[in-house]
Amino acid sequence: MIRKEEIERAKEYFGNILEEQIERAERIKSSLTPMDFSKIRPIVIGVAGGDGIGPIIVSEAERILKHLLEEEIRKGDVVFKEIEGLTIENRVRVMKAVPDEVLEEIKKTHVFLKGPTHTPSPGDPYPNIESANVALRRELDLFANVRPVKNPLLNIDWTFFRENTEGEYILGSMGLDIGDVSIDFKVITEAGSERIIRMAFDYAKKTGLNRVSVVTKANVVKKTDGRFYRVAERVAKEYPEVKWDHWFIDIFSAKLLDPERRSDFKVIVSPNLYGDILTDEAAQLQGGVGTAGSANIGARYAMFEAIHGTAPRMVKEGRAIYADPESILRASVLMLRHIGFNDKADILEMALDMCSIYERKIVVTGRPGGATTKQYGDYVLSWIENPNLKEEWEKAREAFISKAKRGE
Ligand code: IPM
Ligand code: MG
Repeated sequence: MIRKEEIERAKEYFGNILEEQIERAERIKSSLTPMDFSKIRPIVIGVAGGDGIGPIIVSEAERILKHLLEEEIRKGDVVFKEIEGLTIENRVRVMKAVPDEVLEEIKKTHVFLKGPTHTPSPGDPYPNIESANVALRRELDLFANVRPVKNPLLNIDWTFFRENTEGEYILGSMGLDIGDVSIDFKVITEAGSERIIRMAFDYAKKTGLNRVSVVTKANVVKKTDGRFYRVAERVAKEYPEVKWDHWFIDIFSAKLLDPERRSDFKVIVSPNLYGDILTDEAAQLQGGVGTAGSANIGARYAMFEAIHGTAPRMVKEGRAIYADPESILRASVLMLRHIGFNDKADILEMALDMCSIYERKIVVTGRPGGATTKQYGDYVLSWIENPNLKEEWEKAREAFISKAKRGE
Protein backbone atom coordinates (compact mmCIF):
# COMPACT_ATOMS: atom_id res chain seq x y z
CA MET A 1 0.00 0.00 0.00
CA ILE A 2 2.82 2.33 0.98
CA ARG A 3 4.27 1.66 -2.45
CA LYS A 4 1.08 2.82 -4.14
CA GLU A 5 1.02 6.05 -2.14
CA GLU A 6 4.66 6.64 -2.92
CA ILE A 7 3.97 6.23 -6.61
CA GLU A 8 1.06 8.66 -6.43
CA ARG A 9 3.29 11.20 -4.68
CA ALA A 10 5.98 10.68 -7.30
CA LYS A 11 3.46 11.30 -10.09
CA GLU A 12 2.47 14.57 -8.49
CA TYR A 13 6.12 15.48 -8.03
CA PHE A 14 6.79 14.72 -11.68
CA GLY A 15 3.79 16.84 -12.68
CA ASN A 16 5.25 19.81 -10.81
CA ILE A 17 8.63 19.31 -12.40
CA LEU A 18 7.05 19.21 -15.80
CA GLU A 19 5.19 22.46 -15.19
CA GLU A 20 8.33 24.19 -13.96
CA GLN A 21 10.33 23.03 -16.95
CA ILE A 22 7.67 24.12 -19.42
CA GLU A 23 7.67 27.55 -17.79
CA ARG A 24 11.46 27.68 -17.93
CA ALA A 25 11.42 26.80 -21.62
CA GLU A 26 9.01 29.70 -22.19
CA ARG A 27 11.26 32.05 -20.23
CA ILE A 28 14.25 31.11 -22.38
CA LYS A 29 12.26 31.93 -25.50
CA SER A 30 11.57 35.42 -24.23
CA SER A 31 14.97 35.92 -22.60
CA LEU A 32 17.07 38.98 -23.18
CA THR A 33 19.26 39.42 -26.20
CA PRO A 34 22.83 39.02 -24.98
CA MET A 35 24.47 42.23 -23.77
CA ASP A 36 27.60 43.32 -25.54
CA PHE A 37 29.94 43.42 -22.56
CA SER A 38 32.62 45.20 -24.55
CA LYS A 39 30.40 48.29 -24.68
CA ILE A 40 29.59 48.48 -20.97
CA ARG A 41 31.65 51.05 -19.11
CA PRO A 42 32.23 51.08 -16.24
CA ILE A 43 32.36 47.32 -16.22
CA VAL A 44 32.20 45.71 -12.78
CA ILE A 45 34.45 42.69 -12.30
CA GLY A 46 33.59 40.57 -9.27
CA VAL A 47 36.20 38.38 -7.62
CA ALA A 48 35.35 35.37 -5.43
CA GLY A 49 38.15 33.24 -3.95
CA GLY A 50 36.14 30.07 -3.24
CA ASP A 51 37.57 27.17 -1.22
CA GLY A 52 40.88 25.35 -0.78
CA ILE A 53 43.60 26.77 -3.03
CA GLY A 54 40.98 29.10 -4.57
CA PRO A 55 41.75 32.31 -2.62
CA ILE A 56 45.49 31.96 -3.33
CA ILE A 57 45.23 31.51 -7.08
CA VAL A 58 42.41 34.03 -7.45
CA SER A 59 44.26 36.78 -5.59
CA GLU A 60 47.25 36.21 -7.86
CA ALA A 61 45.02 36.52 -10.94
CA GLU A 62 43.47 39.66 -9.46
CA ARG A 63 46.91 41.20 -8.91
CA ILE A 64 47.85 40.53 -12.54
CA LEU A 65 44.51 41.76 -13.91
CA LYS A 66 44.75 44.96 -11.88
CA HIS A 67 48.20 45.52 -13.30
CA LEU A 68 47.01 44.98 -16.88
CA LEU A 69 43.98 47.21 -16.36
CA GLU A 70 45.73 49.88 -14.31
CA GLU A 71 44.80 52.72 -16.60
CA GLU A 72 41.19 51.60 -17.10
CA ILE A 73 40.76 51.35 -13.33
CA ARG A 74 42.19 54.85 -12.90
CA LYS A 75 39.86 56.25 -15.55
CA GLY A 76 36.92 54.51 -13.88
CA ASP A 77 36.15 52.22 -16.85
CA VAL A 78 36.83 49.11 -14.79
CA VAL A 79 35.77 48.53 -11.20
CA PHE A 80 36.78 45.51 -9.11
CA LYS A 81 34.39 44.18 -6.49
CA GLU A 82 35.25 41.55 -3.85
CA ILE A 83 32.58 38.90 -3.36
CA GLU A 84 32.74 37.51 0.19
CA GLY A 85 31.17 34.37 1.55
CA LEU A 86 31.23 31.91 -1.35
CA THR A 87 32.87 29.36 0.97
CA ILE A 88 31.81 25.84 1.87
CA GLU A 89 31.54 26.79 5.58
CA ASN A 90 29.18 29.66 4.82
CA ARG A 91 27.19 27.65 2.29
CA VAL A 92 26.75 24.78 4.73
CA ARG A 93 25.80 27.22 7.50
CA VAL A 94 22.75 28.33 5.53
CA MET A 95 22.42 24.96 3.73
CA LYS A 96 22.36 26.60 0.35
CA ALA A 97 24.55 26.09 -2.69
CA VAL A 98 24.89 29.87 -2.94
CA PRO A 99 23.72 31.98 0.03
CA ASP A 100 21.16 34.65 -0.97
CA GLU A 101 23.29 37.62 0.07
CA VAL A 102 26.26 36.27 -1.94
CA LEU A 103 24.06 35.87 -5.01
CA GLU A 104 22.82 39.45 -4.55
CA GLU A 105 26.41 40.71 -4.49
CA ILE A 106 27.27 38.71 -7.61
CA LYS A 107 24.27 40.23 -9.35
CA LYS A 108 25.85 43.66 -8.86
CA THR A 109 28.70 42.64 -11.18
CA HIS A 110 28.81 42.19 -14.95
CA VAL A 111 31.42 39.45 -15.00
CA PHE A 112 33.13 37.61 -12.21
CA LEU A 113 36.18 35.52 -11.64
CA LYS A 114 35.52 32.56 -9.39
CA GLY A 115 37.94 30.25 -7.63
CA PRO A 116 37.04 26.57 -7.30
CA THR A 117 34.31 25.82 -4.77
CA HIS A 118 33.99 22.58 -2.84
CA THR A 119 31.25 20.29 -4.17
CA PRO A 120 30.17 17.79 -1.51
CA SER A 121 29.66 14.26 -2.78
CA PRO A 122 28.43 11.11 -0.99
CA GLY A 123 30.86 10.20 1.83
CA ASP A 124 32.00 13.78 2.28
CA PRO A 125 32.17 15.31 5.79
CA TYR A 126 29.93 18.15 4.57
CA PRO A 127 26.20 17.74 3.98
CA ASN A 128 25.44 16.84 0.37
CA ILE A 129 24.37 20.33 -0.79
CA GLU A 130 24.21 21.22 -4.46
CA SER A 131 27.35 22.31 -6.32
CA ALA A 132 27.84 26.10 -6.24
CA ASN A 133 28.88 25.95 -9.90
CA VAL A 134 25.72 24.24 -10.98
CA ALA A 135 23.56 26.61 -8.89
CA LEU A 136 25.31 29.74 -10.18
CA ARG A 137 25.02 28.61 -13.78
CA ARG A 138 21.31 28.03 -13.26
CA GLU A 139 20.54 31.14 -11.15
CA LEU A 140 22.43 33.49 -13.49
CA ASP A 141 21.31 31.54 -16.58
CA LEU A 142 24.90 31.09 -17.78
CA PHE A 143 23.88 28.83 -20.61
CA ALA A 144 27.13 28.59 -22.53
CA ASN A 145 30.26 26.96 -21.19
CA VAL A 146 33.02 27.90 -23.59
CA ARG A 147 36.31 26.02 -23.24
CA PRO A 148 39.17 26.48 -25.70
CA VAL A 149 41.85 23.79 -25.90
CA LYS A 150 45.05 24.16 -27.93
CA ASN A 151 48.20 22.20 -28.46
CA PRO A 152 50.45 23.35 -31.31
CA LEU A 153 52.44 20.10 -31.14
CA LEU A 154 49.37 17.99 -31.73
CA ASN A 155 48.03 20.54 -34.17
CA ILE A 156 44.81 20.96 -32.23
CA ASP A 157 42.88 24.16 -31.72
CA TRP A 158 39.41 23.36 -30.45
CA THR A 159 36.67 25.49 -28.94
CA PHE A 160 34.02 23.58 -27.03
CA PHE A 161 30.55 25.02 -26.55
CA ARG A 162 28.99 23.00 -23.77
CA GLU A 163 25.33 23.59 -22.94
CA ASN A 164 25.58 24.65 -19.33
CA THR A 165 22.17 24.67 -17.68
CA GLU A 166 20.12 21.74 -18.96
CA GLY A 167 20.67 18.02 -19.54
CA GLU A 168 21.36 15.85 -16.50
CA TYR A 169 22.36 18.92 -14.50
CA ILE A 170 19.19 20.99 -14.29
CA LEU A 171 17.43 18.46 -12.05
CA GLY A 172 20.60 16.75 -10.85
CA SER A 173 19.62 17.26 -7.21
CA MET A 174 15.92 16.54 -7.82
CA GLY A 175 15.88 12.83 -8.62
CA LEU A 176 13.80 10.21 -6.78
CA ASP A 177 14.46 7.09 -4.74
CA ILE A 178 11.46 4.80 -4.57
CA GLY A 179 12.19 1.51 -2.85
CA ASP A 180 15.14 0.03 -4.67
CA VAL A 181 14.69 2.20 -7.71
CA SER A 182 16.48 5.50 -8.30
CA ILE A 183 15.46 7.87 -11.04
CA ASP A 184 17.10 11.06 -12.29
CA PHE A 185 15.81 13.36 -14.98
CA LYS A 186 17.39 14.74 -18.12
CA VAL A 187 15.80 17.82 -19.67
CA ILE A 188 16.58 19.38 -23.04
CA THR A 189 14.47 22.17 -24.52
CA GLU A 190 14.14 23.57 -28.02
CA ALA A 191 15.12 27.12 -27.03
CA GLY A 192 17.85 25.95 -24.64
CA SER A 193 19.45 23.91 -27.42
CA GLU A 194 19.02 26.61 -30.01
CA ARG A 195 20.85 29.33 -28.08
CA ILE A 196 23.98 27.24 -27.51
CA ILE A 197 24.01 25.74 -31.01
CA ARG A 198 23.54 29.19 -32.52
CA MET A 199 26.42 30.53 -30.44
CA ALA A 200 28.69 27.76 -31.77
CA PHE A 201 27.67 28.39 -35.39
CA ASP A 202 28.05 32.16 -34.96
CA TYR A 203 31.53 31.61 -33.59
CA ALA A 204 32.48 29.25 -36.43
CA LYS A 205 31.27 31.82 -38.94
CA LYS A 206 32.78 34.87 -37.26
CA THR A 207 36.20 33.25 -36.90
CA GLY A 208 36.14 31.83 -40.43
CA LEU A 209 36.68 28.34 -39.02
CA ASN A 210 33.41 27.35 -40.69
CA ARG A 211 33.29 23.94 -39.16
CA VAL A 212 31.03 22.66 -36.34
CA SER A 213 30.83 19.17 -34.84
CA VAL A 214 27.65 18.37 -32.94
CA VAL A 215 28.02 15.61 -30.34
CA THR A 216 25.12 13.62 -28.85
CA LYS A 217 24.03 10.06 -28.15
CA ALA A 218 20.82 10.51 -30.11
CA ASN A 219 20.80 6.88 -31.26
CA VAL A 220 20.08 5.77 -27.68
CA VAL A 221 18.86 8.82 -25.75
CA LYS A 222 16.20 9.50 -28.27
CA LYS A 223 14.04 12.28 -26.91
CA THR A 224 16.48 14.73 -25.36
CA ASP A 225 19.54 14.16 -27.53
CA GLY A 226 17.24 13.60 -30.48
CA ARG A 227 15.91 17.11 -30.02
CA PHE A 228 19.39 18.59 -29.68
CA TYR A 229 20.31 16.95 -32.98
CA ARG A 230 17.17 18.18 -34.75
CA VAL A 231 17.73 21.74 -33.54
CA ALA A 232 21.30 21.57 -34.87
CA GLU A 233 20.00 20.41 -38.22
CA ARG A 234 17.54 23.33 -38.33
CA VAL A 235 20.02 26.00 -37.17
CA ALA A 236 22.72 24.72 -39.56
CA LYS A 237 20.50 25.57 -42.53
CA GLU A 238 20.92 29.25 -41.65
CA TYR A 239 24.71 28.92 -41.93
CA PRO A 240 25.34 27.52 -45.42
CA GLU A 241 29.03 28.48 -45.24
CA VAL A 242 29.58 26.41 -42.10
CA LYS A 243 30.28 22.73 -42.69
CA TRP A 244 28.86 20.63 -39.90
CA ASP A 245 28.74 17.03 -38.86
CA HIS A 246 27.17 14.97 -36.13
CA TRP A 247 28.99 12.47 -33.93
CA PHE A 248 27.99 10.09 -31.17
CA ILE A 249 29.80 10.83 -27.94
CA ASP A 250 31.54 7.45 -27.70
CA ILE A 251 33.26 7.51 -31.08
CA PHE A 252 33.87 11.25 -30.82
CA SER A 253 35.83 10.79 -27.56
CA ALA A 254 37.92 8.19 -29.38
CA LYS A 255 38.49 10.46 -32.39
CA LEU A 256 39.81 13.26 -30.15
CA LEU A 257 42.72 10.90 -29.55
CA ASP A 258 43.17 9.98 -33.22
CA PRO A 259 46.18 11.86 -34.68
CA GLU A 260 44.77 11.37 -38.19
CA ARG A 261 41.42 12.97 -37.44
CA ARG A 262 41.61 15.30 -34.48
CA SER A 263 43.04 18.31 -36.31
CA ASP A 264 39.85 18.42 -38.41
CA PHE A 265 37.73 19.35 -35.40
CA LYS A 266 37.38 23.07 -34.72
CA VAL A 267 34.17 24.05 -32.96
CA ILE A 268 32.35 21.43 -30.94
CA VAL A 269 28.87 21.78 -29.45
CA SER A 270 27.16 19.31 -27.15
CA PRO A 271 24.65 18.88 -24.34
CA ASN A 272 25.85 19.47 -20.80
CA LEU A 273 27.25 16.20 -19.41
CA TYR A 274 28.96 15.15 -22.64
CA GLY A 275 30.61 18.57 -22.74
CA ASP A 276 31.74 18.17 -19.14
CA ILE A 277 33.50 14.91 -19.94
CA LEU A 278 34.87 15.91 -23.35
CA THR A 279 36.42 19.11 -22.04
CA ASP A 280 38.37 17.28 -19.34
CA GLU A 281 39.58 14.79 -21.94
CA ALA A 282 40.55 17.60 -24.28
CA ALA A 283 42.27 19.61 -21.54
CA GLN A 284 44.39 16.56 -20.77
CA LEU A 285 45.74 16.72 -24.33
CA GLN A 286 46.77 20.30 -23.67
CA GLY A 287 48.69 19.43 -20.53
CA GLY A 288 46.01 18.70 -17.93
CA VAL A 289 42.92 20.35 -16.48
CA GLY A 290 45.19 22.78 -14.62
CA THR A 291 46.08 24.41 -17.93
CA ALA A 292 42.58 25.23 -19.16
CA GLY A 293 40.21 28.06 -18.37
CA SER A 294 36.45 28.08 -18.59
CA ALA A 295 33.92 30.79 -19.48
CA ASN A 296 30.30 30.55 -18.39
CA ILE A 297 28.36 33.02 -20.49
CA GLY A 298 24.78 34.23 -20.22
CA ALA A 299 22.83 37.12 -21.68
CA ARG A 300 23.28 39.29 -18.61
CA TYR A 301 26.13 37.80 -16.52
CA ALA A 302 29.30 35.84 -17.11
CA MET A 303 31.48 33.79 -14.79
CA PHE A 304 35.08 32.76 -15.45
CA GLU A 305 36.71 29.93 -13.57
CA ALA A 306 39.51 27.41 -13.39
CA ILE A 307 38.40 23.98 -14.53
CA HIS A 308 40.16 22.14 -11.70
CA GLY A 309 38.95 21.66 -8.13
CA THR A 310 39.92 23.03 -4.70
CA ALA A 311 42.88 20.66 -4.07
CA PRO A 312 42.01 19.96 -0.39
CA ARG A 313 45.04 17.68 -0.02
CA MET A 314 47.41 20.51 -0.92
CA VAL A 315 45.80 22.71 1.69
CA LYS A 316 45.92 19.98 4.36
CA GLU A 317 49.59 19.33 3.71
CA GLY A 318 50.40 23.05 3.84
CA ARG A 319 51.26 23.26 0.14
CA ALA A 320 48.60 25.80 -0.91
CA ILE A 321 51.21 28.51 -1.52
CA TYR A 322 52.62 26.29 -4.29
CA ALA A 323 49.31 26.08 -6.18
CA ASP A 324 49.44 26.64 -9.93
CA PRO A 325 47.39 29.68 -11.00
CA GLU A 326 47.60 28.90 -14.73
CA SER A 327 44.02 27.71 -15.12
CA ILE A 328 42.48 30.76 -13.40
CA LEU A 329 44.80 33.00 -15.45
CA ARG A 330 43.66 31.27 -18.66
CA ALA A 331 40.11 32.00 -17.48
CA SER A 332 41.18 35.62 -16.97
CA VAL A 333 42.26 35.72 -20.64
CA LEU A 334 38.75 34.63 -21.63
CA MET A 335 37.27 37.27 -19.34
CA LEU A 336 39.38 40.06 -20.83
CA ARG A 337 38.24 39.05 -24.32
CA HIS A 338 34.63 38.91 -23.23
CA ILE A 339 34.70 42.48 -21.92
CA GLY A 340 36.43 43.81 -25.00
CA PHE A 341 40.07 44.08 -23.94
CA ASN A 342 41.44 41.86 -26.69
CA ASP A 343 44.92 43.39 -26.74
CA LYS A 344 45.36 42.82 -23.03
CA ALA A 345 44.02 39.28 -23.40
CA ASP A 346 46.64 38.62 -26.10
CA ILE A 347 49.41 39.93 -23.85
CA LEU A 348 48.34 37.79 -20.91
CA GLU A 349 47.93 34.72 -23.12
CA MET A 350 51.38 35.12 -24.67
CA ALA A 351 52.94 35.70 -21.24
CA LEU A 352 51.28 32.51 -19.95
CA ASP A 353 52.49 30.54 -22.97
CA MET A 354 56.04 31.76 -22.30
CA CYS A 355 55.88 30.91 -18.59
CA SER A 356 54.07 27.58 -18.79
CA ILE A 357 54.97 26.15 -22.19
CA TYR A 358 57.89 27.74 -24.02
CA GLU A 359 60.40 29.23 -21.62
CA ARG A 360 59.48 27.66 -18.25
CA LYS A 361 62.31 29.35 -16.41
CA ILE A 362 60.53 28.69 -13.15
CA VAL A 363 58.06 25.87 -12.76
CA VAL A 364 55.16 25.39 -10.37
CA THR A 365 55.09 21.78 -9.21
CA GLY A 366 52.58 22.06 -6.38
CA ARG A 367 55.33 21.20 -3.89
CA PRO A 368 58.21 22.87 -2.03
CA GLY A 369 61.12 23.03 -4.43
CA GLY A 370 58.82 24.29 -7.16
CA ALA A 371 57.88 27.94 -7.52
CA THR A 372 55.21 29.49 -5.30
CA THR A 373 51.99 30.90 -6.76
CA LYS A 374 53.37 34.36 -6.15
CA GLN A 375 56.74 33.66 -7.79
CA TYR A 376 54.93 32.37 -10.86
CA GLY A 377 52.77 35.52 -10.81
CA ASP A 378 55.91 37.69 -10.75
CA TYR A 379 57.27 35.67 -13.68
CA VAL A 380 54.07 36.29 -15.67
CA LEU A 381 54.25 40.01 -14.82
CA SER A 382 57.84 40.17 -16.03
CA TRP A 383 56.77 38.88 -19.45
CA ILE A 384 53.77 41.24 -19.50
CA GLU A 385 56.22 44.09 -18.96
CA ASN A 386 58.69 42.83 -21.57
CA PRO A 387 58.49 45.14 -24.63
CA ASN A 388 59.60 42.26 -26.90
CA LEU A 389 56.93 39.84 -25.73
CA LYS A 390 55.33 39.36 -29.14
CA GLU A 391 58.57 38.68 -31.06
CA GLU A 392 59.93 36.45 -28.29
CA TRP A 393 56.66 34.52 -28.20
CA GLU A 394 56.70 33.97 -31.97
CA LYS A 395 60.33 32.85 -31.89
CA ALA A 396 59.78 30.55 -28.92
CA ARG A 397 56.71 28.98 -30.49
CA GLU A 398 58.54 28.30 -33.73
CA ALA A 399 61.55 26.81 -31.92
CA PHE A 400 59.32 24.71 -29.69
CA ILE A 401 57.48 23.18 -32.62
CA SER A 402 60.56 22.45 -34.72
CA LYS A 403 62.35 20.94 -31.71
CA ALA A 404 59.40 18.64 -31.13
CA LYS A 405 59.36 17.69 -34.80
CA ARG A 406 63.01 16.68 -34.57
CA GLY A 407 61.95 14.53 -31.62
CA GLU A 408 64.18 16.25 -29.05
C1 IPM B 1 33.11 21.56 -14.43
C2 IPM B 1 33.01 20.77 -13.16
C3 IPM B 1 31.59 20.92 -12.61
C4 IPM B 1 30.66 20.34 -13.64
C5 IPM B 1 31.37 20.25 -11.22
C6 IPM B 1 32.29 20.85 -10.19
C7 IPM B 1 29.95 20.37 -10.78
O1 IPM B 1 33.34 19.44 -13.40
O2 IPM B 1 32.98 22.79 -14.37
O3 IPM B 1 33.33 20.97 -15.49
O4 IPM B 1 30.41 19.13 -13.67
O5 IPM B 1 30.17 21.11 -14.46
MG1 MG C 1 34.02 19.04 -15.37
